[in-house]
Amino acid sequence: MEQSVQILYAALSIFAIFDSSLAAAVATLSPGQTLSDGQVLSSPAQIFELGFFTPANSISTVKFLGIWYRATPDVVVWVANRQNPITSSAGALTLSKNGNLILSSAQGTITWSSNSSTAAASRPILSLLDTGNLVLADNSTNIWTSFDYPCDTRLPGMKMVDDSDAGLDKHLTSWKSSGDPSLGDFVYTIENHGLPQMSILMGKEKKYRTGPWNGRNFTGLPFIRDPAFGAEIVNGRLVSYSEAYNSSIYKRLTMDPSGLLQRYIMNEERDGWILAFTIPSETCSNYGWCGVNTLCKPNKSPVCECLNGFAPKSEREWNSAAWTSGCGRIPPSDCRMEDGFMKVDRVKFPDTLSFRVDNSMSIGDCHEECLRNCNCSAYADPYLSLSDERNGCLMWFGDLVDIMEFTGEVSIGPSIYIRVPKTALDNTRGWNERKRSKKLVFVATGASLGMFLLILWFGCMILRRRRQACKKENEDLELPLFGLKTIAAATNNFSDENLIGEGGFGPVYKGNLSAEQAIAVKRMSRTSGQGPQEFKNEVILIAKLQHRNLARIWDVALKERRRC
Ligand SMILES: *[C@@H]1O[C@H](CO)[C@@H](O)[C@H](O)[C@H]1NC(C)=O
Ligand SMILES: *[C@@H]1O[C@H](CO)[C@@H](O)[C@H](O)[C@H]1NC(C)=O
Ligand SMILES: *[C@@H]1O[C@H](CO)[C@@H](O)[C@H](O)[C@H]1NC(C)=O
Ligand SMILES: *[C@@H]1O[C@H](CO)[C@@H](O)[C@H](O)[C@H]1NC(C)=O
Ligand SMILES: *[C@@H]1O[C@H](CO)[C@@H](O)[C@H](O)[C@H]1NC(C)=O
Repeated sequence: MEQSVQILYAALSIFAIFDSSLAAAVATLSPGQTLSDGQVLSSPAQIFELGFFTPANSISTVKFLGIWYRATPDVVVWVANRQNPITSSAGALTLSKNGNLILSSAQGTITWSSNSSTAAASRPILSLLDTGNLVLADNSTNIWTSFDYPCDTRLPGMKMVDDSDAGLDKHLTSWKSSGDPSLGDFVYTIENHGLPQMSILMGKEKKYRTGPWNGRNFTGLPFIRDPAFGAEIVNGRLVSYSEAYNSSIYKRLTMDPSGLLQRYIMNEERDGWILAFTIPSETCSNYGWCGVNTLCKPNKSPVCECLNGFAPKSEREWNSAAWTSGCGRIPPSDCRMEDGFMKVDRVKFPDTLSFRVDNSMSIGDCHEECLRNCNCSAYADPYLSLSDERNGCLMWFGDLVDIMEFTGEVSIGPSIYIRVPKTALDNTRGWNERKRSKKLVFVATGASLGMFLLILWFGCMILRRRRQACKKENEDLELPLFGLKTIAAATNNFSDENLIGEGGFGPVYKGNLSAEQAIAVKRMSRTSGQGPQEFKNEVILIAKLQHRNLARIWDVALKERRRC
């Protein structure tokens, strides 16, 4: 008898546990049903949850309705009532019969509504998908989705939109602070004023831009070659931009309250996040850092240089590293046909504030046209990096803003021809007109001798370029290299005891360089899906980044050093 009572008691308590978990997590919300504070709506694979929360760093106890990762509840990806917190703990989300989501406080006041009611709604259902999208569907057609109302986070599958015809503008807006999800100062948005690009704005002020979309990628982001990104161009406008959803990897892009765009990837244990990169990643990617008509050179000192043929507008400011006034033409522009063009390689195109694109012109026509028009300050082939035979001429007028040089491992990117006075060309290496006149001299000295010299000259150039490339690579790293032995000793020969994690490239070890110097060692695994090139890119990127959440990079141990 006693035994059976015990069994019954055990059965009852199991039932009670079941019952309470059923009450706490629901899969869908039907008309008339309510999700109250303390309950969550879960996605089918339990990746995301919708519920009431108080931000981790909040100074008050106000509540918001939001979506977060079940594994990392502090990472909130969407908030319904950003501007209108609930001040009690009795908030409730109700789905009305006609398909309207209503968030109300204890007093019954409506703090937020999806405004999605339709007279025709027959049996609306609210569910949270494993993509993180909260979907209100009626008879299998979506009548409202949270992905259409981005907050500060872009998830794969979510589109950023700038479609004036449809009256749609979907962009990211930062939280006010890490404890307050209300609208903050920074916006990450598609920008179609010039050539289409993505920009970080603070009010009307531009803080960062990706550079124009060239049909395959943004010219200012040459290190990102992820085919998952897709752009939709209609009549030359970037209408939408998104990243494809992939169920095997969790990624997010967040516009943070301090103006940094941060890319996170979930670790393999699926319990924490790895910061993949931050934008702006370095001084030069801050919009217009050096002022007008300058070239910003990352990792160089000083970072700002006037373009050839230009001089600082204020020598005094320039000398004290106050760059904002930029540079002006010397002598001042008086529109002379004998100007020439200086080629600058591997740059982020200047912002297209005043520009013209003509896809019927070849690059030769472009040169002639730009030379003819006194207001034309530069031209380029916008499609060169696509390596198809497409024609195209992009011309800039007036001051050139925000040109950045790509160096080191990211030394790809398009070239630009900048209008300069002839006098500036004469003391510059590498401009095309001078090369042409040199060739003419060779021809004049006789065919056989000319051939001989040409071969010699090209040979020298190739050797020199190879040597420079080698030298550049090491300089760009600007890090002393450690031997593999030193690293092996520091990590106890990469022992499992020193293993502290696993990143996209392979294992990460804790090590001791000396008694005081603890280090983390990232090792590229043979089975890593990513190659040595990506690894190097990451090393360089980390070396350039300085962020409070990121360890400073010390050194790199390369198993094989390139022989120069
Ligand atoms: C819903 O409509 C009301 C009134 O037009 C508006 O004040 C409110 O901001 C809208 N809510 C949302 C979430 O769009
Ligand atoms: C639901 O959708 C199907 C097909 O789209 C349609 O045939 C059906 O009439 C709809 N039902 C209701 C109740 O609207
Ligand atoms: C653009 O993408 C192509 C491949 O799709 C790549 O080869 C090229 O280097 C990229 N160029 C720039 C400037 O990002
Ligand atoms: C999804 O991501 C995995 C891991 O990065 C990759 O192997 C796979 O090809 C991706 N799938 C698609 C459809 O892109
Ligand atoms: C150059 O710009 C000036 C003023 O911005 C304008 O008056 C002039 O017509 C322009 N010239 C050409 C050839 O476009």
